[in-house]
Amino acid sequence: MAVLIDGKKIAAEIRKELKGKVDWLKSMGLKVPGLAAILVGNNSASQVYVSSKSKACAEIGFLSKVENLPANTTQNELIELVEKYNADNDYHGILVQLPLPSHISEEKIIESISPSKDVDGFHPTSVGNLVIGRETFYPCTPNGIVELLKRYKIETNGKHVVVVGRSNIVGKPVANMLLQKKAGANAVVTVCHSAAKDLSLFTKEADILVVAIGKANFITADMVKEGAAVVDVGINRIEDSSFPKGYKIVGDVDFENVQKKTSFITPVPGGVGPMTIAMLLQNTFLAYIKITNQKLA
Ligand code: GUN
Repeated sequence: MAVLIDGKKIAAEIRKELKGKVDWLKSMGLKVPGLAAILVGNNSASQVYVSSKSKACAEIGFLSKVENLPANTTQNELIELVEKYNADNDYHGILVQLPLPSHISEEKIIESISPSKDVDGFHPTSVGNLVIGRETFYPCTPNGIVELLKRYKIETNGKHVVVVGRSNIVGKPVANMLLQKKAGANAVVTVCHSAAKDLSLFTKEADILVVAIGKANFITADMVKEGAAVVDVGINRIEDSSFPKGYKIVGDVDFENVQKKTSFITPVPGGVGPMTIAMLLQNTFLAYIKITNQKLA
């Protein structure tokens, strides 16, 4: 019988821990951590994500600012706004929601964020530090996955982790994090992706299977080893008229059938998703500690 990994519960615990620290800062009359989130255009999914992030900040007492910019904002205007927040001592984290309109270079924008405020962990400096095992801001979703494995005491040392998907946001960073020679990692890691002739050759070998390929119910029971731990990063909408909105959210894993073979599994929703925002809050808190040189961590 699989243990259900309750990301919602763990995320709530982390938010509570952080709120306690913010309450203490306030009681001492100190500045609180601040996050500036910038959204360009009106992508509805991005609007939902940014408003959830800002709400989560407000709930734990962070300063939170959302900048809503029109879709025709120029790259230079966006860089100027990022630079304004780079220099603003009230904001310790800066997040530019992706994707950006096609006339703006995501690379240039990410590079314009000060690495000391890069709470998404997307800046090349953060990525480089992650790869060579230095302390840095870890991207939120991969960091959430590693945190879930730790809190559920799922052994990674010497285990075979198979990552399906090679995105810069999930696949590449989670593979690199679990590869590091340190506690909570030290795994043997395979990264596979859509170009594989037969993905199941890889997935069947996994002690821990991390799936971030963006295809609904893609991983079926025959692709999973008996007793594996399965982490499903997918968030896919599929039409279903029995749901109030006319669709339901499913992961990249055929949960019903796969869970019967697993030791641990993350549900969708309620698995990895809630951890992403919790880790963003944690990164913002860490940025605050570093920038202000506070001793509390
Ligand atoms: N778009 C999808 N996921 C993310 C994320 O974690 N951060 C940002 N900035 N944009 C995203």
